[in-house]
Amino acid sequence: MNITVIGVGHVGLVSAAAFARWGHQVVGHDDDAAKLERLQGGEAWFYEPGLQELLDEVIGAGRLTFASDPAEALTDAEVVFVCVGTPPLPGGGPDLSYVETVGRTVATHAPRDLVLVEKSTVPANTGRRLEQVIDRETARLATPYRIQVASNPEFLKEGAAVLDTLHPDRVVYGTSSDSARDVMRGVYAPLVAEDGCPVVETDVASAELIKHASNAFLATRISFINAVAQVCERVGADVSVVAEGMGHDIRIGHRFLQAGLGYGGSCFPKDVDAFAHLAGQVGYEFGLLDEVRDINVGQRASVLHKLEGELWHLTGKSIALLGAAFKPGTDDLRESPALHLADDLRAAGAEVRIYDPVALPNVAEEHPWLARYEDIDELLTGAHAAVVCTDWDEIKAITSDRYLKHLAYPIVIDGRNVHDPTAMIDAGVRYHSMGRRSVND
Ligand code: UDX
Repeated sequence: MNITVIGVGHVGLVSAAAFARWGHQVVGHDDDAAKLERLQGGEAWFYEPGLQELLDEVIGAGRLTFASDPAEALTDAEVVFVCVGTPPLPGGGPDLSYVETVGRTVATHAPRDLVLVEKSTVPANTGRRLEQVIDRETARLATPYRIQVASNPEFLKEGAAVLDTLHPDRVVYGTSSDSARDVMRGVYAPLVAEDGCPVVETDVASAELIKHASNAFLATRISFINAVAQVCERVGADVSVVAEGMGHDIRIGHRFLQAGLGYGGSCFPKDVDAFAHLAGQVGYEFGLLDEVRDINVGQRASVLHKLEGELWHLTGKSIALLGAAFKPGTDDLRESPALHLADDLRAAGAEVRIYDPVALPNVAEEHPWLARYEDIDELLTGAHAAVVCTDWDEIKAITSDRYLKHLAYPIVIDGRNVHDPTAMIDAGVRYHSMGRRSVND
């Protein structure tokens, strides 16, 4: 099939490459000329394991190309995927203006009847709004084509985006006609034949809701275990063991029960807010989601509190942050708990320095005031305390000896529960973690 992907960010570019891998002919388009230029040169503009290799394969085979002109990008399109950003607005809802713009562009330049597919995460009922936009635009055309709107949410995780896309847990699409459903079947037929993943075919609003409900549910699990961690600290229990014990119940399962600094990234914080906002708009106060967000923010506050417990006041103290990315395997800093913590520490008067194996160039752009270190030992040298913010392997591997050798005061706040508390405490580290044994217990 001839597919056009509009927006070549994390979701759009990986999806475009996967469509091409499944044998479709794909054109990627984006407003950002710098990104397109790099892609036209065959180079991924962000880091994601396996992505460059996949791009080499499909660009090399001529199945994925890029066009900066929207009309040119749409020349052969039978299916158009909307993968533009839906950033949060101050009120909690997402900014859907980019999605609307794509709707108008596609309505104006459509070369034939086609299906316009929302892949960007959007609130339920965005499909209906898009149809209105398209109807208004096409009404002006002499011979309008039929553009049907479908929803096909994306569930990929950053750091495993290629794997998740090529081997998804499920494919979900919502359509409002048999013909649009058949087009979506055609897009995914090669994947389903190869991978055998389950497919959920539904209406547009349900598909939209599946995405928000899934992300809000996963965020709720994380905040739930973080709230349990707070109780664990107060009663002397170990949240890792509690989570393990809970997870053996197959109705609960083990995943997404890792207590720590809380969730970040481009999806969970935004989607929790957007889902609560949508519910409020349609007359349901989803207070549970407000609590999920508050617990998440509270985890950072608890790290600050632990540091103050050790260091008294933070003015002039040098704090070493281990990890900047919102999770390992990515250089993405969006809503990263590490950077929020850096802001809070700075506001408290601390001098903040940071290490990350891949995200430092992005730190330089977004938080230029942060002192950046490419070497863990150098970062630790002379700092008054260290905080584990991201569970990269090289951070997990730091031993008590290294902390004791380099830190001015041997204070470690393990915000991701990566170290063994007993080994750290027995070696003499003033060690604190999230919901597990601390040096004071
Ligand atoms: C998430 C969803 O998993 C994915 O399905 C959706 O398409 C996009 O949003 P992503 O943001 O890439 O993916 O990251 P994910 O691996 O889900 O982690 C999100 C955040 O939660 C990270 O900051 C991570 O450190 C944190 N997390 C995750 C925890 O704190 N505890 C856990 O148990 C799991």
